[in-house]
Amino acid sequence: MSILFDSEKKIFKLDTSDSSYVFQIFEENYLVHLYYGAKIPDNNLTANYYRGWFASFCPSNAKVKADCFSPDVTPMEYSCEGAGDFRVSALAIRNSDGNNVTDVRYVSHKIYKGKPALEGLPSLHLNSEDEAETLEVLTEDRTTGALVTLIYTVFENYPVITRSVKVENGSDARMDIERVYSCCVEYERTDFNMMHLYGKWLKERTLQVRHLAHGIQSVVSKRGSSSHNHNPFVALADEKATEDYGEVYGFNLVYSGNFSAEIEVDAFNSTRLIMGINPESFGWILEPGEVFQSPEVVMVYSGEGVGGMSRAFHDIYRNNLLRGKWAKEKRPLLINSWEGCYFDFDDEKMVSFARKAKEMGIEMLVMDDGWFGKRNDDTSSLGDWFVNEDKLKGGLGSLIKRVNDIGLKFGIWFEPEMISPESKLYKEHPDWCVHVNDRENSIARQQYVIDMSRKDVRDNIFEQMYAILSDNPIDYLKWDFNRNISEAGSALLDSEHQKEFFHRFVLGTYELMDRITSAFPDLLMENCSGGGGRFDPGMLYYSPQIWCSDNTDPIERLTIQFGTSLCYPGMCMGAHVSANNRAGIDTRANVALWGTFGYELDPNKVSDEDKETVKKQIEKYHKYYDVIHFGDLYRIISPFENHYRSAWSYVSKDKNEMLFTSVVMRRPEISSYFVRFKGLDKDKYYKDEETGEVYSGALLMNAGLNFTNKDCSDGASFLKYFKAI
Ligand code: DGJ
Repeated sequence: MSILFDSEKKIFKLDTSDSSYVFQIFEENYLVHLYYGAKIPDNNLTANYYRGWFASFCPSNAKVKADCFSPDVTPMEYSCEGAGDFRVSALAIRNSDGNNVTDVRYVSHKIYKGKPALEGLPSLHLNSEDEAETLEVLTEDRTTGALVTLIYTVFENYPVITRSVKVENGSDARMDIERVYSCCVEYERTDFNMMHLYGKWLKERTLQVRHLAHGIQSVVSKRGSSSHNHNPFVALADEKATEDYGEVYGFNLVYSGNFSAEIEVDAFNSTRLIMGINPESFGWILEPGEVFQSPEVVMVYSGEGVGGMSRAFHDIYRNNLLRGKWAKEKRPLLINSWEGCYFDFDDEKMVSFARKAKEMGIEMLVMDDGWFGKRNDDTSSLGDWFVNEDKLKGGLGSLIKRVNDIGLKFGIWFEPEMISPESKLYKEHPDWCVHVNDRENSIARQQYVIDMSRKDVRDNIFEQMYAILSDNPIDYLKWDFNRNISEAGSALLDSEHQKEFFHRFVLGTYELMDRITSAFPDLLMENCSGGGGRFDPGMLYYSPQIWCSDNTDPIERLTIQFGTSLCYPGMCMGAHVSANNRAGIDTRANVALWGTFGYELDPNKVSDEDKETVKKQIEKYHKYYDVIHFGDLYRIISPFENHYRSAWSYVSKDKNEMLFTSVVMRRPEISSYFVRFKGLDKDKYYKDEETGEVYSGALLMNAGLNFTNKDCSDGASFLKYFKAI
């Protein structure tokens, strides 16, 4: 049993594999948070609400008899706006009287095996009902009739709790949700470092670590997507925690639009974290009887440092987020045409790519941007999803047949949420682009965004995509999204509902993805947004891999992949060997091996010598596929901390295999280089595949190995593979 309700103490205790989360029904039915941290056996925590004396500036409730209760000071399970809590609030609903005072109190609860799916939204799923239990706590604002259900799912075998919130209008008057965060978490401490991932196009997910300070610190997106700039991930790490030791709490929002994580440290030295849809660009009208469901937050607790947090995210995402056949089945090794030829191709060039790729052992050709409408550069044709037969003579079917006959599978590129002003679709439906009346629309990469909040627009795009995908044997789809959303508005929403646009857009995108993945369950989908501009768990629910970055420089990729690995598994990170020559082809492959692995270059330009090298790389890819895709990641030297080298390893779940990778970013000042490995079985003996030497796990983890004599010139790298004997 992972969820316990002590009816005497009125305490809920949620136990995961390694953590406990405790809250209580307090006087006057307030829900008060008591504890979140390492697993504890007892639930005798009722005194934890007490946070010392406060002055008259912290409002209370006259009916409460307990000492020093104030929503402003007491750790609240789900903080509300305007009823005595002046800290960041998770919920604010403007009622028909025009004020937004919100105050929800406990009404009832239910505990059951399993986990509910969230209507219209991606979320973690279970493979069997026994994996998790769910607690739904119904609360109510008695003044307004808002019914708010706090939903917690507790995983038995992972240190994971998911949370979301459902708001129902139980009154007969309209309500306006101004903010509805998916979780609120309270700590009786401030000795945390906050970790988050910022970035930009070509430089996604750079790790930022800062000590919490009094006041509010936040990470947000209001770009219409989760964005290159900030990932919907934040962690609170004990200030003494490291990669391998100490407590770390990770939070990741399963959402691909505007998000917000706010952390407030107050004068009573407590910390509150809320995470959910960004209220700055959000509002939702709830008519009587209507329901609003928030996205889900995945909360991970690690007692084994940042590395432990990452491995828990990787495990739960591999098992309970990725869906369909490609979550587990071996994916075909691909070559993508983009960096090899950009828009400059025809059917003959694609066939020549396929022929050369086949010679090297590649299994699938992906034809990227440029096959449709009149698209020869980025100035036109998004929205015109029909084949450009001037380019692909004989049509798509004939090209795919030729590629298949060579022995390769075939993949194709779409950018369904966009429209070019220079397109047939735009000429026919100028109001289908996202816009607001009487205001010039900003243009980015020569394109507008198409209005995914509209069903008629989605139907049109679905039908166009369906025609291409059902008429042709297509194995893979790259779904791109190459700009952010400005002048956000829809021609179909009235002025009062325009504030719902951003969320409706995300729901529309999810609905279209759902239709495509349901219609073509065997299609392997790879998400992309100018590289990794939408690398979030929402997208991973629909596509088990996401193109990590348009930056394929193997040295730059190190920080990008290290940052991404904080919460996303390697098997989801799109990573290719390109013609970028900042480092040799071996290093390019060694870095790409961390992720999905593939090629992105003109195979006709690969020298005979490199062709032999590629064949060997592909052998390694097959050999190491399982340990990389399903093993545990151990980060050993982080490029965020070391300017000279990066190193990481994958260890199989049974601890019988380890693949270690080391890359020199810049020739080190000191050449001495010892590596102490992690995550092995100290009692097993491992054979070094290269030298035949045998070492105990204990030696490898404690004494380590001496790699001082390895090449340490700029861009050099090596792999080491060990197998238990
Ligand atoms: C951006 C993507 O990240 C690239 O890989 C490529 O697909 C281009 N878009 C095509 O326009």
